[in-house]
Amino acid sequence: MNILALETSCDETSAAIVKNGREILASVIASQIDIHQKYGGVVPEIASRQHILYITPVLNETLATAGLTWAGIDAVAVTNGPGLAGALLVGVNVGKAIAFAHQKPLVGVNHIESHIYANWLIPPGEEAGKPPAFPLVCLIVSGGHTEIILIENHGSYHLLGKTQDDAAGEAFDKVARVIGLGYPGGPMVEKAALEGNSARFPFTKSKLKGTYDFSFSGLKTAVLRKVQEYQAPPPKPASFSGLEQEKALKLTAKSSAVLKTGNQLNLQEKEPEKVVSTLPVADIAASFQASVVEVLAEKLVQAAIEYSAQHILIAGGVAANKALRGGIEARAKKAGIPFSFPLPLFCTDNAAMVGSAAFFKLMETGLPAAEIALDWGLDIRPGWELVR
Ligand code: KG4
Ligand code: ZN
Repeated sequence: MNILALETSCDETSAAIVKNGREILASVIASQIDIHQKYGGVVPEIASRQHILYITPVLNETLATAGLTWAGIDAVAVTNGPGLAGALLVGVNVGKAIAFAHQKPLVGVNHIESHIYANWLIPPGEEAGKPPAFPLVCLIVSGGHTEIILIENHGSYHLLGKTQDDAAGEAFDKVARVIGLGYPGGPMVEKAALEGNSARFPFTKSKLKGTYDFSFSGLKTAVLRKVQEYQAPPPKPASFSGLEQEKALKLTAKSSAVLKTGNQLNLQEKEPEKVVSTLPVADIAASFQASVVEVLAEKLVQAAIEYSAQHILIAGGVAANKALRGGIEARAKKAGIPFSFPLPLFCTDNAAMVGSAAFFKLMETGLPAAEIALDWGLDIRPGWELVR
């Protein structure tokens, strides 16, 4: 069964054709990162407009790459939530239009569920390996989600724990901004961390013991405080080495101007360039990343052991992070539980994962695609939670 899938939930316009849930016949992703970069984050209205501009060429290129016409497509799948309302509307309306025009079944897919199914995709050019084995635990780490889910079978999800505040990707993005690395933060922090000493700053880790929940706001504040230390006037100049003293003094004039106004130093509102040159950016990035990896990896593998998981998976944009993969891999190996992850390209938003999730969703219903009625009632669900 060939499913043509669409994904427009955030800032990637993507279409793909996936055969039997695993084989990618075509995958086209038009990223808007360059456009949003200058604003330091995704601007929803711009994202929607860009989706409108990109979706038709992306769709045409997808069919051309697969060498298929509409006759070779069995169903249309589209992400209908969670995500940005205006962005989701583009994909859902295009999905309805093509399904109507070509009389194909239409399947709405949850964005988080699709991230999980990136693990079922066969990496292009590789032989099909065994699909993940149930029961399994999956760590979802994206810009909006950080959750550990127990999956007993296709479509059977149980929430084991989730973040109480920021999502892991959000923490990466905010820290990146504070240390002057720009948007999107995750890949920038990962790159900077390669040159850094992760033991230099032992940032607080909120472990929320006895639960599989997470909290990243304390860690984020600890990073902010560290950056502020570098901004504030030195308490005792004698305690600084020559070079550090010089750097600190350079900052004093700027910092005291802010302090005089009586306002609190708020680094997020400052120009990144003013901060970056004097900070040990690589060491902060490496120390922050190490803290995130430790909590995520420890809890995930602990959950896998407790629930006798046969497999450990990760999904979502932050799953592209090599330090995170390494941290989980080491612990999973020790526990003797297989661990796998999608190619980085399929960790961040893409339509191939939507095509995979839709296939298994169709299989769950026990009906061949042709018997599934066109779902004209399909609407966007910007706040749709896969599990509560
Ligand atoms: O899944 P995704 O593409 O979009 C959402 O559904 O949110 O995830 C985007 C998030 C961003 O916060 C981005 O900074 C983070 O994933 N991210 C990373 C890496 N690549 C993307 N975080 C850490 N390391 C990376 N290599
Ligand atoms: Zn996503």
